[in-house]
Formats: sequence, structure tokens, C-alpha cells
Amino acid sequence: MINNAIPLRIAGVGYSVPSTVVTNDDLTKLYDTSDEWIYSRTGIKERRLVSGNENAVTLGAEAAGKALEKSGLKVEDIDMVICASSAPPELYPAIACRIQAHLGIPNDVPAFDITAACSGLIYALSIARGFIASGMYKSILLVATDNNSRLLNWEDRSASILFGDGAGAVVVTASEDGVDDIISIDIRANGSIGDLIRLPLAGKNCPLVEPNDEHPQFIEMNGKEVYKFVARVLPHYVEDMITKAGMKAEDIDYLIPHQANLRIIQAVQERLGYSDEKVVTNIKYYGNTSAASIPLAMAEGVEKGKVKLGSTAVLCGFGAGMTWGGAIVRLREGIV
Ligand code: COA
Repeated sequence: MINNAIPLRIAGVGYSVPSTVVTNDDLTKLYDTSDEWIYSRTGIKERRLVSGNENAVTLGAEAAGKALEKSGLKVEDIDMVICASSAPPELYPAIACRIQAHLGIPNDVPAFDITAACSGLIYALSIARGFIASGMYKSILLVATDNNSRLLNWEDRSASILFGDGAGAVVVTASEDGVDDIISIDIRANGSIGDLIRLPLAGKNCPLVEPNDEHPQFIEMNGKEVYKFVARVLPHYVEDMITKAGMKAEDIDYLIPHQANLRIIQAVQERLGYSDEKVVTNIKYYGNTSAASIPLAMAEGVEKGKVKLGSTAVLCGFGAGMTWGGAIVRLREGIV
């Protein structure tokens, strides 16, 4: 980090999931699949899906409200809102603007969305860190929320088994005790393999010009190639990040990874030599909630007593782009 940079405190974390549970057995009503097939390949048993008028905004607002409450900050203290989302209910206004209005965050603070798919929370944290380190902004609300289930093709059994809906939020603020809760952070992208996971927007050129190729507006994924790419890159990447931070894997208390596939999580776990107690997984109950997955695992992990506070954790994520990223963070008492 640059000299004289202002350190950052993670002040509060929250999450929200829809109440509607859809199990693997439920999915057999949609297509030819089985609980055994899905669970053995992914570690997923069930997922939560938005129902009625729930969506990424309502989930995100609830998670953000909880994170704010835990942070001890008031809505007037927030001077920026960043939302990470890749499956929003509307492309604009930004979810961040909707949540700003919903929570009563002052009407003139900047609010915007970023799209880095399942790496979104790490990207948002990295952006917030720059703003806080430079002294430009003091307290920033980060929300990561996705309603994947609205954008899946529910006839595509290889992609639709994987995803669920949910939201997580983190409030970060300038640290007043000189301790930086971000020990290390890093974000990456490789656009040359961007077609591995995509969500095209349906749209047609003006009738006066040559027509464009049309694509249905559904999440498309080459699962096998995504798996191969991530399994090759992620374990080494996380290990290198820890080494570059001047640490050893055993110096870190928890691995809180993006929840996309249990086998990918286990590959990172094996590389770091961690026992199951050090690895936070909730994929069994939520599936892949995209951007929300890391803060959801973190907040729920603390709430359920798996993660003890006053600890350190390595977060890591990957997703469409392809993007990936990681952070080594301090988890202080009182954040959840
Ligand atoms: N139930 C039963 N059979 C299924 C199925 C399902 N839900 N989905 C696919 N199949 C079938 C296929 O039709 C195929 O049959 P065939 O051999 O007769 O053609 C067979 O299972 C193998 O399909 P394939 O897509 O090669 O499966 P896979 O072993 O690669 O597993 C994933 C699919 C999606 C579970 C796996 O590729 C994966 O998890 N990839 C990572 C995706 C990911 O993490 N995405 C999010 C990134 S943020």
C-alpha cells in the first residue's frame, strides 16, 4: 500500500437470503436429474430462490441494513454506496441507487454498481480501499447481491442446478486505531475467455441497419471449461497471494471462498493444507449466489459460530469475465 494511506476497518457485515427453498429433488420436476448427480458433482443440496416481488434490491437492502446496524454507523455517515451484481432485476437505475433510497442514505452521495460476477465483492472492496486510503471518502457501504434465478434458463439442467439467490453487505470505514483490516488484496481478469460464462442482453439493432445476431437472455455457461480453468488457477493464486503478503498459510485462521463448487473449494483447501474447521462452506444450502457468496459465507459463518472473531481470513472468488481475486482480512469483534 502507498505510504501515508489511511487504513481501513471492516465495521459491519450482514446477509439476506429468500425464504423459499428449492431442493435438488424439487428440480427433478423440471428436468431429468437427481439429487445424487447434483450433490456428488457440486456439493449442493438446495438453494434459496426469490419468489413474488423479492429481488436483488430487496435482498441487498436487507443485508445492507444489517451490516449498517452492526457497524454502529448511521445512514448519514455513509458517503458512498457500491453494489456488486451480475444478475440484477434492472440494469439501471443501479441497485446501489435503489438501496440508497430504500435505506435513506443521503441523496447526494455517489452510488453505483460494478459487474465482476462472483468476484464482485473482492472488486468492490478493492475499489473502496482505494477511496478510503486516499482520504477521498471515509465510510462506504458495499453490497453484493444477485437474483440469478430470474436469469437462468430453467430448461438448462447443467447451469440452473448451480445457482441460488442471496445478498451480502459489508460496511467499511477509515480505521481510527491505525490497524488496517485489509492485510492484502488483489484482483484479476482475463477477458480472452469471456465466453465461458455470459449473460447476453436480448436486443435488436435498428430495423434500418443490418440485423445483429440474437441471443436469448439467459445465463450461458461452459461448466466443464470453467471448472478446468478455476481448478488450474485458483489454488496456486491463493497460495501465492499469501506468500506475497509475507505470510504462511498457517498464519491465517479461515478460508472463506466463493461457493461455486465444493470440489473447487476442496482443491484450494488441499493446497493450503487446511482442516475442515478452517474452511467456511455453505454451498450445500445456498448453491452459488454469485457476488453474494463470500459475504454470505462470512456473515453466516460468524453467526453460526464456525468463524470466531478476532481472527484473520483469506477470501477468494472467481466468476464471469473471467475475473478472480482474493483478500486477506482481519475480522474484528462486533462485525456480525
Ligand atoms: N443432471 C443429470 N445429468 C446432467 C446434468 C444434470 N443436472 N447436467 C448435465 N448432465 C449430463 C450431461 O448432459 C452430460 O451427459 P452426456 O455425457 O450424456 O452428454 C453429462 O451429464 C456430463 O455433462 P457435463 O456438463 O460434462 O458435466 P460435468 O461433469 O462437467 O458437471 C458441472 C457439470 C456444471 C457440475 C461442472 O462442470 C461444474 O461445476 N463446473 C463449474 C461451474 C462453475 O463453477 N460455475 C460458476 C462459476 S462462478
